[in-house]
Amino acid sequence: MLMKQYKAPVLSNRQVSERYWHMVVDTSMMSCAVEPGQFFHIRCADNYSPFLRRPLSVYQIHEDTIEFLYLVKGEGTTGMTRIQEGDTLDMMGPLGKGFELYKQAGTILLVARGVGIATLAAVAQAAFLQNTHCVAVLSARTKEDLLAAEYLEEFGADVYKVTEEDGTSDVESVRHIIETNILPNHKIDSMYTCGSRRLSRLSQTIAEIHGIPGEIALEEHMGCAMGACYACVCDIRENDALKSVRVCIDGPVFPLDKVVIE
Ligand code: FES
Repeated sequence: MLMKQYKAPVLSNRQVSERYWHMVVDTSMMSCAVEPGQFFHIRCADNYSPFLRRPLSVYQIHEDTIEFLYLVKGEGTTGMTRIQEGDTLDMMGPLGKGFELYKQAGTILLVARGVGIATLAAVAQAAFLQNTHCVAVLSARTKEDLLAAEYLEEFGADVYKVTEEDGTSDVESVRHIIETNILPNHKIDSMYTCGSRRLSRLSQTIAEIHGIPGEIALEEHMGCAMGACYACVCDIRENDALKSVRVCIDGPVFPLDKVVIE
């Protein structure tokens, strides 16, 4: 594999809620296109602790910039918060297989939770650019964590917000919203999910019952992100047999009906 590694100037890196940060990097030196669902493997600090990079999926894609919305939850992402405007970001990518958005799609459904909302926000952006309408169910611990909701609404998406703090984010409530409010009112051409095993299982069930094709972006721990270390292996179902795949190069986006969600 051709290694695509850049030292990209950081244009901003700021805290946008208690747990989330937003980073904008100048990617004008990048010659290849970036697809929603693809990720960059980012070196989080200049020293060797943490030594490993962290995979971050793209949140917004522009001609000369890429934006990341990231959850600070460990040593790596904490290290990222110390990166300042004017620093350079050591990033490998774009990596992996992104989402497929069919040009003919009239309306799509996004089902996302937590940091998975940032991943699917890039799908909403791509949908907007090709005139595909978006309906989204966004789930988070708190209203404050539903950061990308406004961004999706700017793209004309119909957004249903559910949170633990409101007691509205359990699977049955989400299923009720999809089956009572969304499916009777929209012809959904495809659905996309990321960020929650429970909501992914629900999405699989709904997709199967209603015959809707779909895709899922998996979030696995990664080591090399280049297919060499097998730290990111998961199972998919193919021709009634299980097949091991590497999320970093075979995914992170897979057909929704093929993924085995434990
Ligand atoms: Fe090394 Fe996927 S992270 S093979």
